[in-house]
Amino acid sequence: MQRVAITGATGYLASLVQLYNRGRFEFVPVSRADVDYGHPDEVERFFSSLGADLVFHTAANATTAACENDPAGTDLINRDSAIAIGRACQATGKRMVFISTEQVFNGLACPGPFDEATEPCSVTRYGQQKAAVDAWMHASLDDYVTVRLSWMFGMALPGVKPSPGILGNVLQALRTGKPTKFTCNERRCMTYAQRLASQFAQVCDLPSGLYHFASANTLTTFESAQMVARRLGASAADIERLILPDTERYADRFRDFRLDAHKAQDAGIELGTFAEDVDLCLADFGW
Ligand SMILES: NC(=O)c1ccc[n+]([C@@H]2O[C@H](COP(=O)([O-])OP(=O)(O)OC[C@H]3O[C@@H](n4cnc5c(N)ncnc54)[C@H](OP(=O)(O)O)[C@@H]3O)[C@@H](O)[C@H]2O)c1
Repeated sequence: MQRVAITGATGYLASLVQLYNRGRFEFVPVSRADVDYGHPDEVERFFSSLGADLVFHTAANATTAACENDPAGTDLINRDSAIAIGRACQATGKRMVFISTEQVFNGLACPGPFDEATEPCSVTRYGQQKAAVDAWMHASLDDYVTVRLSWMFGMALPGVKPSPGILGNVLQALRTGKPTKFTCNERRCMTYAQRLASQFAQVCDLPSGLYHFASANTLTTFESAQMVARRLGASAADIERLILPDTERYADRFRDFRLDAHKAQDAGIELGTFAEDVDLCLADFGW
């Protein structure tokens, strides 16, 4: 059985991938307790001597504000340590699978969806850190897969705590009765996280390269939230009271973060539309 070292092992996507692929891979979980991502030299040494066939690197400080507030510290974690893992993989002949983000395109003024040939342009440190790793991997590694994800969503499972997503945010507004704003000035390809977990083996087997991984969406985030609330069975009155338009955020420039995933689909990865993903998730969880 293939041994897969998985970093950020206790995080949302890593724990979901492990849950869905038990018995298919032998996972070697690696977390902050095992290696300090603030010291890239240590990281390179650690992964150079780790017995694994492939490294799936998910660990990152993915909080945009944290990256702005501590650019040097998060450069070490999100950029330099990812590159250190890449160096260790290249030296030991292992494949590296890395998770990048739609945020590499948050500085573009033109409309998406963006394909893999689009040059990244990011106005946030987090996006710049991920874009730097993507570029380094492309230039330096013989055997890698970079999956650029959009904003993922899902529900909790035993041992799996979703990071904030559109479904969780809408559910929270409806459950708590707290009116919540959703931005009108952005479009994102929100994607059901199980798409990644259930196709992890196929992702690991993709030909070396960069792949956008996202279900298609034409709605703004506000329209997406309204649609989720309708699918959850909320009344029109509750939707109007609780799912509010945020017209101020990104009023300076519309943000289109959407990813064109045709390359991954042509390689056999199944993706759908945001609406289909919401239905898939609600069906999986017996809604
Ligand atoms: N969720 C999304 O919508 C989304 C979208 C695009 C890209 N991504 C990328 O996907 C990856 C996983 O995302 P996720 O949603 O699963 O995130 P998550 O739940 O926050 O998990 C990330 C893991 O990274 C490790 N980590 C976090 N902060 C760290 C720090 N300061 N120093 C060292 N390690 C740290 C932690 O694992 P340990 O404590 O086990 O080490 C944490 O559980 C990230 O690289 C993220 O950038 C996520």
